[in-house]
Amino acid sequence: MVKKIRKAVFPVAGMGTRFLPATKANPKEMLPVVDKPLIQYAAEEAEEAGVQSLVFITGRNKRSIPDHFDKAYELESELQEAGKTELLQKVQNVLPADVSCIYLRQAEALGLGHAVLCAEPVVADEPFAVILADDLIRGDDGVGALAQMAAVYERYQCSVILVEEVPAEETAKYGIVEIENDDGETANITSIVEKPKPEDAPSNLAVVGRYILTPRIFDLLKETGRGAGGEIQLTDAIAELLKYEKVRAYRVRGKRYDCGSKLGYLEATVEFGLAHQELGEDFRGYLKTLSDNL
Ligand code: G1P
Repeated sequence: MVKKIRKAVFPVAGMGTRFLPATKANPKEMLPVVDKPLIQYAAEEAEEAGVQSLVFITGRNKRSIPDHFDKAYELESELQEAGKTELLQKVQNVLPADVSCIYLRQAEALGLGHAVLCAEPVVADEPFAVILADDLIRGDDGVGALAQMAAVYERYQCSVILVEEVPAEETAKYGIVEIENDDGETANITSIVEKPKPEDAPSNLAVVGRYILTPRIFDLLKETGRGAGGEIQLTDAIAELLKYEKVRAYRVRGKRYDCGSKLGYLEATVEFGLAHQELGEDFRGYLKTLSDNL
């Protein structure tokens, strides 16, 4: 029987230097898009896919993440006394009761591969998900990216990596895959390389912030030396995994916002603002007036 994806790993120990000074004392994963921090969108996507344990790989200056997912007694009782039930529900529903959070500390920021390896004691021998919260994804038809990937995992019973076509000149920002047997939605990965220059890239299909991995990756990560940027790269361990197992690429049905970049973050803010239940209409009116005067 195929094992379900019950655990998701959130590497959140990065410095977030691109957003300084906003991220001087606050993690980039806590940047809000309209009224929710990026990490909450990621957690909700995992829950929707059936994940029961959220495994955060944290570092210094990340205390606000556990605080965000914790119970907030004072705030809750104040909201209760003030009769602000709607707000109270928003605060209480940050996590469903049956989902648990596990926090592991990555003492040294040695790269994404190293962060994922830190999760081994908790994940052990199960397939698991990795979610990079700064890739914010709105799935088509209200189905999140990880839920879509979990269906692909169940069908092919192998690791699944989310990919998207990027402009050829941007390959050096991503892990890039080479594929075969492409059915337009999924394909077999034949090779993967971290941040190649455009002239060296095998394609323009980029890995975007979501992985479902088999546990063999941990053994391979232990053997992975420093790669691109002097970091232990998850991509390099996946390249090794390809020697033993099939790995499937999956093109997301939906839209990805690169919230690790300021422009992507602004785009997400505008589009999530437009789609927001309470604000959407007023915000649309504002943008129309603004664009008439640009
Ligand atoms: C990481 C991965 C890279 C992937 C990217 C997606 O890079 O190493 O393979 O394409 O996330 O966002 P980072 O953006 O952390 O440099």
